[in-house]
Amino acid sequence: MMLAIAGVMGAQAQEVPQVTNVMNREAVSLNGEWHYIVDVQEEGYYDYRMKFTPWGFFHNAKPQRPEDLIEYDFDAAPTMQVPGDWNTQDDKLFFYEGTVWFQRSFNIASNGQSRRVLLYFGAVNYDCRVWVNGREAGHHVGGFTPFNFDVTDLLHEGKNFVIVKVDNKRSASAVPTQIFDWWNYGGITRDVMLVNVAPTYIEDYSIGLDKAAKGKKRFINVRLNLNRKEAGREVTLSIPELKLKQTFTTDAEGCVSTQLATQSSKLSLWSPETPRRYRVELTLDGETISDSIGFRTIETRGKQILLNGQPVFLKGVCLHEEKANGGGRATSAEDARTLLSWAKELGCNFVRLAHYPHNEYMVREAERMGIMVWSEIPCYWTINWKSEDTYQNAQRQLTDMIRRDKNRANVVIWSIANETPHSAERDAFLGRLARYARTQDTTRLISMAMEVTGASNYVNRLQDNMHELVDVVSFNQYVGWYRDVNDAPKMRWEIPYDKPVIVSEFGGGAKYGLHGAKNQRWTEEFQENLYRENLAMLDKIDGLSGTTPWILKDFRSPRRVLTGIQDYYNMKGLLSDKGEKKKAWYVLKEWYEGKE
Ligand code: GCU
Repeated sequence: MMLAIAGVMGAQAQEVPQVTNVMNREAVSLNGEWHYIVDVQEEGYYDYRMKFTPWGFFHNAKPQRPEDLIEYDFDAAPTMQVPGDWNTQDDKLFFYEGTVWFQRSFNIASNGQSRRVLLYFGAVNYDCRVWVNGREAGHHVGGFTPFNFDVTDLLHEGKNFVIVKVDNKRSASAVPTQIFDWWNYGGITRDVMLVNVAPTYIEDYSIGLDKAAKGKKRFINVRLNLNRKEAGREVTLSIPELKLKQTFTTDAEGCVSTQLATQSSKLSLWSPETPRRYRVELTLDGETISDSIGFRTIETRGKQILLNGQPVFLKGVCLHEEKANGGGRATSAEDARTLLSWAKELGCNFVRLAHYPHNEYMVREAERMGIMVWSEIPCYWTINWKSEDTYQNAQRQLTDMIRRDKNRANVVIWSIANETPHSAERDAFLGRLARYARTQDTTRLISMAMEVTGASNYVNRLQDNMHELVDVVSFNQYVGWYRDVNDAPKMRWEIPYDKPVIVSEFGGGAKYGLHGAKNQRWTEEFQENLYRENLAMLDKIDGLSGTTPWILKDFRSPRRVLTGIQDYYNMKGLLSDKGEKKKAWYVLKEWYEGKE
């Protein structure tokens, strides 16, 4: 990479707000083989008194004299692929939760221009500290959202190195908390890149269709901000296919907030049937960022969900961000296409990306393929509702999830939680999050996966104080698995809210290829029957606007230990981990065909 470099002694780096649309920025990828050192007792960070040691592994030190004592050597250490998880790349780390150090070198050449360099991570699970050339670049907590540091002043011409300390230990006050039903894949799990930006650059923007139309006109809302509060800077927005091109001037805050008008007749709206996206270009000082943006509206009316003003049924399925064939974290567009093609084949126009923001490839591929998305932050089960740090952590993840994907037309629902226990603290915590989400994005629906609270005599009641703060009432239920399947025909659902209903989880386990009587657990026939009974039961729910059964494919979980059946896999997939179709797959496919 060519850039102007400082490498000034005592220079500082700083975390800067996540740059929007990093995929279309000038950047050099640092993906590839990185050296790693497993550091169970964090020897590389703490001394024997458990105090931070200034001689830590982040120095990448080498013996200068024969008698020098340096007890680590990244160059001699093994390597693994980044992005990726350590659990599936080193058998010794399959169950490992703790600290692993990563290191790689890269070359920098100067081009005499004054540019800034942002070191960008798509995600690192979970607690991540970063150093460049031995100097600290920053610290980030949270395993599923992007972050970047301005490291310009830490770089120098020639050979540079970056060191990352990753710790995926679970804790009660973390988000997610201590227990969760998926594999705690550790590592630098998403893309790493050096993003090259001008000293003043377009940091963030949101471009989307306004719900209101006027006569034959539609309006495109535009908001953007520079990384600096600079007034009077000219930014040109162009949408060539709509013959729209206009130049705006930033205000004192370095922001632009405006609308562009276009003829409705000219605009093809994004939908699963026609996932139309338009090339959009933003130019500042002759430097252009382009993006592919679809235009659509999403809203509710009573118990209906309206896409572009028309009622839509969300034919969905849940999935984890996990490759097929035991391959660990999904990291690429190709991984996304594999999983999403299966969902499409099932007849889905919607996916619930559980229980954390998935990588950007997943969301963008779904947009390209015409699949709507539910995206969620991991406020999962019993979070530490009383802790302000935990709240700030959750809110930060919500901010970053919305910031990264707010220009994706297919993202229709932000979910703030899954199966959380009722309490005043929980209501206060989630209430705050729901209200905050609306300050970040007024154009999408807010929801969360609730739980059925009262079930007696076949009457299931959904009572949740959070119903006031969500647009869509969603709940998980497991009739047939955690409750008797024979109850299904008798079940009645009381959902006293005039809002659309999504059944955000239902299903049961089966081992692909295991056959037997329909009341024999783990057989495909048991799961097939469970789906039949559930779908007939769900069809009776007033206001049902969508379903996302649990789950597209079997996935790894440390909570699933039944030898010979689960073997550390949650077996509720409609597909095996290899993508083999279980009998229930065909039951759901047929039901979705009936929902056309
Ligand atoms: C829960 C939870 C999932 C879990 C599933 C199951 O509802 O939300 O994360 O995997 O049930 O029990 O299989």
